[in-house]
Amino acid sequence: MNRRVLAALGSAALALSMAACSGDGAGSGGNDSDTPADLTIGVSMPTQTSERWIADGNSVKEKLEAKGYQVDLQYAGDDIPTQSQQVDQMITRGADVLIIAAIDGTALSGQLQAAADADIPVIAYDRLIRDSPNVDFYVSFDNYKVGVAQATALLVGLGVQTKDGAKGEAKGPFNIELFAGSLDDNNAHFFFDGAMDTLKPFIDDGTLKVTSGQTKIEQVAILRWQQEAAQKRMEDLLTSSYNSGTKVDGVLSPYDGLSRGIITALQNAGYKGADFPVVTGQDAEIASVKLIDDGVQSSTIFKDTRLLAEQAVIAGEAFLTDKAPEANDTETYNNGVKVVPSYLLPVQTVYKDDIKPVLIDSGYFTAEEVAAGQAG
Ligand code: GAL
Repeated sequence: MNRRVLAALGSAALALSMAACSGDGAGSGGNDSDTPADLTIGVSMPTQTSERWIADGNSVKEKLEAKGYQVDLQYAGDDIPTQSQQVDQMITRGADVLIIAAIDGTALSGQLQAAADADIPVIAYDRLIRDSPNVDFYVSFDNYKVGVAQATALLVGLGVQTKDGAKGEAKGPFNIELFAGSLDDNNAHFFFDGAMDTLKPFIDDGTLKVTSGQTKIEQVAILRWQQEAAQKRMEDLLTSSYNSGTKVDGVLSPYDGLSRGIITALQNAGYKGADFPVVTGQDAEIASVKLIDDGVQSSTIFKDTRLLAEQAVIAGEAFLTDKAPEANDTETYNNGVKVVPSYLLPVQTVYKDDIKPVLIDSGYFTAEEVAAGQAG
């Protein structure tokens, strides 16, 4: 157990026994700063340019503070040196547990070694931290299944498959393009693998045609998941592969931010109405939920960040009380050094009809927020 935690728990126990001996009420005999409630959890988030990470950061902070913990929440502006520095500072300021959503999954080995040297447990949040033995736990979603769900949503949107998995009416051939996330994010590979395993039979039998011929993750990845870069790549694809009257029918996009860039490029090229290509997504970001409601984006994959935050808090508390957090997967996430015990949450595909039952009725967004395309 972390030395500071032990000391805090020890002092609290001492304070309690002193209170018991003297007959004082609880809390009257000790120094408040010695109680476990004064433990600090460092929370390092990648960026504030995407609303999902703001929601994640806020959820984790609120849930920890509600339990009385101190929270040191930092955003790194998608800059790797900034994140390294922020984690270093959390360690020097005496964090008792670290919860980290890495920008580059391979860039934090030094910080994690320093954390291990100071007995600070590390929880990787949604993105696995790679190449380090010092990742103690991983909370995320079933990322391979996210990719399967995205590809399935593309097939459903095109009419090749029905929502219940049956064969659809549409035969194709359909022209599609593929996008992937940032290569330095472990999740990007899981999403793409899940999606490609699902799409491959349809590409092989000619139902789907990747017109550009770009089917390798290295060819379709978007560094740092940037919306503008996705827009630029879609514009380039339209110029290079769709200049002779061929139309795009569908785009596999692994994240709503990328989807918005792709949609802008398609709209600027004149795509509209019923002929608008099927575009997938992920994260149920409010601006994209509105696009789905408006019939522009076809689907998104909802990952309830409230549940993810809750799991991170449960894992953090387990470490603070010297228990191993409960894992539900001890096989899938090898970070290059070891298999990291994980807690994986399920995901849900959201089409237009699902916005109300899944997102509004669960309190994730209000109907007004969806109508405005803005949270808060
Ligand atoms: C991934 C995450 C996705 C999406 C993406 C871009 O790591 O799993 O849900 O948020 O980053 O931020």
